[in-house]
Amino acid sequence: MKLSDSEEENEFFTTFNGEFDARLSDVSVASGVRTEKGTVAGAARFLCGIKAKYNKDLMRKLSEGMILAVRNFKSEQMERYTLMEISRFWPEHFGLKGVSESLYYPIQREIIEQSVKDWDKDDASTMMVRINAVPINYDLIIENNCLVFENGWTFPLIGEKVWILNKSTIGYLFNKEVLKDLLDKETVTIKDWKDYEEKVANSKPEINPRIGKIQMFTGEEIPLLVNFEDLIRYHFGVFAFTGGGKSNLVANLIRKAFLHKDNIKVIIFDISCEYIVLLLDLLSKEKSAKIIVDREVKNSEELYKSIVKPKAFEKEEIKNKIIEKLNGLISSKKIKVLDLAEKKTYQRLLTFLEKVKEDNSDKPYYFVFDQWIDFLQKYLEEEGKELESLISPEELDEIADEFDKILEKNQIKTTDRRYAPQNIPPILKGWATTLKPAEEKKENVITVDEILGSLESDEKEVIVLNIPDPEKIRNLAITITTEILSRRKREFKISPFILFVFDEAQEFIKSLDKARGKEKDCSEAIEDLSRHGRKYGLGVCISTQRIAHLNTNVLQQLHTYFIGTLPRPYDRGYVSDVCTIDRDILDKTLEFGKGEWIVSSNSATGIPNVPIFIKADNTEEVLLNFLRISS
Ligand SMILES: Nc1ncnc2c1ncn2[C@@H]1O[C@H](COP(=O)(O)OP(=O)(O)OP(=O)(O)O)[C@@H](O)[C@H]1O
Ligand SMILES: [Mg+2]
Repeated sequence: MKLSDSEEENEFFTTFNGEFDARLSDVSVASGVRTEKGTVAGAARFLCGIKAKYNKDLMRKLSEGMILAVRNFKSEQMERYTLMEISRFWPEHFGLKGVSESLYYPIQREIIEQSVKDWDKDDASTMMVRINAVPINYDLIIENNCLVFENGWTFPLIGEKVWILNKSTIGYLFNKEVLKDLLDKETVTIKDWKDYEEKVANSKPEINPRIGKIQMFTGEEIPLLVNFEDLIRYHFGVFAFTGGGKSNLVANLIRKAFLHKDNIKVIIFDISCEYIVLLLDLLSKEKSAKIIVDREVKNSEELYKSIVKPKAFEKEEIKNKIIEKLNGLISSKKIKVLDLAEKKTYQRLLTFLEKVKEDNSDKPYYFVFDQWIDFLQKYLEEEGKELESLISPEELDEIADEFDKILEKNQIKTTDRRYAPQNIPPILKGWATTLKPAEEKKENVITVDEILGSLESDEKEVIVLNIPDPEKIRNLAITITTEILSRRKREFKISPFILFVFDEAQEFIKSLDKARGKEKDCSEAIEDLSRHGRKYGLGVCISTQRIAHLNTNVLQQLHTYFIGTLPRPYDRGYVSDVCTIDRDILDKTLEFGKGEWIVSSNSATGIPNVPIFIKADNTEEVLLNFLRISS
């Protein structure tokens, strides 16, 4: 199909019935993406300038993030277009441009006053719409009425007509890779997309996997899908100023991932105690759900008081419904009290030895660790113990003595205990004095080892650690992330995927030069998880309002970003650098309302590294539906 130069639209493009009449006017060289801190080497090497005939309605309909297509130098037999994303647009008035500061003031005023009426007319001779667009480095090829997207940059024809990709084309472009997975097909067509879109429209979260709507055409809904496996496995970050909707979005993503992916586990480090309500539907329906609290809860009212609810949920009627659901959680024994009394399994001892072995791999007596681990394994066999069995203080003492014997056998002096490995036996003896003997277990109590055991199982599950004490939850984060990572390494296991959620991440991943003691250990443990986790199916979610003072090594591991309003230039500069998002596009976030986000992803969306403007689905609506329906 050949497109004529007329106002005619084809089935992939729109001109808003001719209202958008634009030409590519210039392409300037930009030696990278323009970011807050200057230009960084990145995808966009050019900036495209576009001039459109003025039209009042057009100003209402255009939006940043729209994708434009311009025929390029490779289009001969076939229709081939260079794609670019609108980063900024503004109207210009010819008369006003002539108003110089040196002009007599009453004349300046007169001209300005006169111009205001012009904006209501559609006078193309005095007004124009100017648009800046950044190439997204894809060519669109139309072949036999099919769309093909080819990665790469082709110089567009200056002076050519500019088209806007229409609703279906955008839905197809941004979702096709995810749709392939969903439909289990090698290739998907635009028709597949339209059929799918229709099928899931307006349905419940169980049926519709969309995470939100693409914000582009007023009054038109385009769902955005993401590949949950890539989202989780390659880590994601959620950044927005306080009240921007981070927790709401994270809950929405968890819910959707959980409902639409089979082999996943989610563990939420919930220091601000929000997720019991934010995920109340999931926690109530899901049999495997576990809510871990740090002190006994007497009843649902007490629990209700101790947790955070969205503002809109404080009404009496909703409050009662929530309490009813909390009651359900208590009676189905999903709420467990964390037992922090020191109990250790052989598994923990083994992990500890492996960790010190790793940390000391450059020391001369490194080989001793292998001998110790061998000894421990033989010991377990001989005594008929499992890795999960609890160690008694006496046994630990005995093992420490045996470790000393092994040191002596290797002629390593045990008189100097300053360094590893000589310092390990005394550490173990120290442990032994704090260990509590195994006792009768209460039903509603859970130990750290049981949490670890649960995370090692193949069962799909969601765990909320509702623990407001920063020190306690950080200690848990250290133990759980280190243990799970080393157990997965040992077993070379990648499934099920486990997502570790750190909301209020500034409490967990403080910048290493600012953190001390356990804060530093925690930051390092999560850094380790983010660096190596993906090989073992372990993913991290980082959500925070402030990027400054965080451990940037963790942030660099994220492959997907959700960016809301970031009022501070440093934060925007950082994001714009690591995601290579154009400064103008990122500045648009300053106008965002609650629940509005830019998503940019290496692998989880249908198109890599193209910033997509979305309105996320509102978790509160899902909850209200759940509370009403189940009453
Ligand atoms: N997708 C959305 N659609 C509509 N409203 C939303 C959306 N997301 C959040 N909101 C509104 O914004 C409010 C704040 O959301 P939320 O608590 O998730 O923000 P936050 O960024 O986590 O804030 P904080 O920094 O305090 O943790 C919510 O109570 C809700 O009313
Ligand atoms: Mg929050």
